[in-house]
Amino acid sequence: MEQEMLRAGVESTRFAGQVVVVTGAAGGIGGACALRFAQEQARIACLDIDAAGNAQMAAACRELGADAIALPCDVTQAGDVEAALAAVLARWGQVDVLVASAGVYTGDPLATVTLEQWQNTLAINLTGAFLCNKAVAPLLMQRGRGSIINISSMAGKTSWPASAEYSASKSGLIGLTRSVAMELAPYDVTVNAVCPGNTLTGMVRRVSAVIGARDGMTSDEWLAMRARDCPLGRLAQPWEMAGVVAFLASEDSRYLTGQALEVDGGMVMA
Ligand SMILES: NC(=O)c1ccc[n+]([C@@H]2O[C@H](COP(=O)([O-])OP(=O)(O)OC[C@H]3O[C@@H](n4cnc5c(N)ncnc54)[C@H](O)[C@@H]3O)[C@@H](O)[C@H]2O)c1
Repeated sequence: MEQEMLRAGVESTRFAGQVVVVTGAAGGIGGACALRFAQEQARIACLDIDAAGNAQMAAACRELGADAIALPCDVTQAGDVEAALAAVLARWGQVDVLVASAGVYTGDPLATVTLEQWQNTLAINLTGAFLCNKAVAPLLMQRGRGSIINISSMAGKTSWPASAEYSASKSGLIGLTRSVAMELAPYDVTVNAVCPGNTLTGMVRRVSAVIGARDGMTSDEWLAMRARDCPLGRLAQPWEMAGVVAFLASEDSRYLTGQALEVDGGMVMA
């Protein structure tokens, strides 16, 4: 099954003039979000530690007619995050939306997770999102508008084996989202989390190979099993996450804050 980053035929001016900062923009879900906002005429700042992939994604946004820049950034480094935000403000003078999508997942069982691996996952998935929320929040509060969307996971809501450090980071991110939502609500700024189910990205391909091999399956067999386990009977495409993220940044969701939406084909429900 091919990864589909873009929903064809989207023509909208919904985010014209708005500035959207996307972390993990070189990846599947972050990239699909950057492209979706580009389709809807936002100005996009792509942030990622993968400088080459990030530059490609910003170029793809520009091909859709959007103004877009690539800013290399390690979200675990406060200095990197601050420098990236300073570059965004120097160019456009404002931020309207943050999508915090940078993340990692190893799929290792507890017995083999090292302390270093635990700390690395927490540093990227949770501390990285914290640093980005902290850097963007005052800008949105000052303007009295805007949205933050943190990409958590269904693993933050329910139980999976071989996910100790990942689940902990993603549950923590839901806690962070709710607290920031409370603080920013008086300023008319909404803060929500999206909890994706299995979405066809590089991350899922890598982890399915590791977990599948442990269970005596190929990557494709393991993914097919996950699709059968899902009430909607299939895996998600990255553009399907991007559509929900765009909704959460739009005028249609101004009364929706502090939520962690399961966009998982019904997996957590089941
Ligand atoms: N794909 C899924 O099935 C799935 C399911 C649930 C949640 N998620 C979450 O969605 C988010 C995006 O995942 P994806 O599937 O697009 O994975 P991906 O691997 O395609 O993208 C992740 C991106 O994060 C970047 N990144 C990693 N460490 C970074 C750092 N220190 N600083 C900046 N960027 C960094 C990577 O370079 C990569 O481009 C992650 O937070 C992930 O946990 C994904």
